[in-house]
Amino acid sequence: MLEGKEIVLGVCGGIAAYKAAELVRLYVKAGARVSVVMTAAAREFVTPLTFQALSGRPVFLELFNLVQEQQIGHISLADRADLLVVAPATANLLGKMVAGIADDLLTTTAMACKAPRLLVPAMNSNMWEDPICRRNVAQLREFGVQIMEPATGMLACGWEGQGKMPEPQAILDLTRSLLGPRDLVGETLLVTAGPTREELDPMRFLSNHSTGRMGYAIARAAAERGARVRLVSGPVERPAPAGVELHCVISAREMHARVMALVKDCSMVFKTAAVADFRPAFRHPQKLKKGQEPSLVLELRRNPDILAELGRLPGDRLLVGFAAETEHLGEHARRKLEEKNLDLIVANDLTVEGAGFGVETNVVRLIYRDGTEEELPQMSKDQLAHQLLDRALKLGKTGTSQ
Ligand code: PMT
Repeated sequence: MLEGKEIVLGVCGGIAAYKAAELVRLYVKAGARVSVVMTAAAREFVTPLTFQALSGRPVFLELFNLVQEQQIGHISLADRADLLVVAPATANLLGKMVAGIADDLLTTTAMACKAPRLLVPAMNSNMWEDPICRRNVAQLREFGVQIMEPATGMLACGWEGQGKMPEPQAILDLTRSLLGPRDLVGETLLVTAGPTREELDPMRFLSNHSTGRMGYAIARAAAERGARVRLVSGPVERPAPAGVELHCVISAREMHARVMALVKDCSMVFKTAAVADFRPAFRHPQKLKKGQEPSLVLELRRNPDILAELGRLPGDRLLVGFAAETEHLGEHARRKLEEKNLDLIVANDLTVEGAGFGVETNVVRLIYRDGTEEELPQMSKDQLAHQLLDRALKLGKTGTSQ
């Protein structure tokens, strides 16, 4: 999504400046071209060489530089930007921007920039809460500057509160949504992700290897493209993507209840979760003790088939199911498509390297209601998420895969 985009990244002087190095790495990995502008104070924390090595470009430092001034540095930087990001942005920078002070390369570039501007403040929590800072933030927002809320936690100064720079991945997510297509504005998506856990006793459960990576990638991509996204997630170790409404559940029955409560006004459903088909017939209230028996037989009960139930609901929402198979991929997936009344099923073959659970990539076959099939090459789950949204949009508009 960031392929070929020009990002001008301003770095101010704060302890979070070191995180900006990781942000540059993520931007470059996502295909963006990054020009870094450092304030004098930023250079007290990180050296320009770090940013030069990571961006593969010269780093811009001075307002009056004989080489860069051939093209009037700040104007050429402002002109080239598809997006100006300042991370970390200090209270000083916010104050200067509100007051219209342009006395160094970063503030002049920021003022001359017609592209969207995103500030990522990081500072002591008392400074963030100070009424002057609150007023500056509000005014900048009124001027159309995007300001990302700082995270809450332990700050470098020893205080605990709001003021931490958000993780570089969250800044990347927001950047994508500012630069990417907004073709899902007006759509409400329901995405399920991760495994479910079916408890046997307070210590043990039945589950599977899903990590939520695929479903979270779809939720993130849809939010980036402007959709309202409800993500119903089984227990996984990953943060909610920016701008997504996260609903955490544990068991299949909880997922069923939450999905049914949320689905009514959704225009698209992506059922990526690996839902347990069965649960222990009885949940022991105390830890099950082993006796002398050489074996133990577990009685299991069927869980509700959430997707099949969605397929029977009235309405014309788009239903996309997933199938993870170890054999007869096409045959099993086609049967699920029909039985669950889906528009599209995304079939992944768990025996193929780079496909299925846990890994960063996937290799899938798409099978449409009209019988057509499409094999997609191996790609990252993030890329696949966007491809699936492209297909879903087309299906929503034309009702066919062609
Ligand atoms: O989370 P990751 O580690 O990234 O892995 C991604 C994935 C492999 C989990 C994902 O790509 C995937 O394939 N998910 C579906 C897993 C599966 O095998 O589902 P199923 O064949 O059991 O079910 C078919 C469809 O019915 C699925 O859309 C499932 O969400 C749904 N279902 C299944 C059972 C049930 N009781 N209720 C359901 O809604």
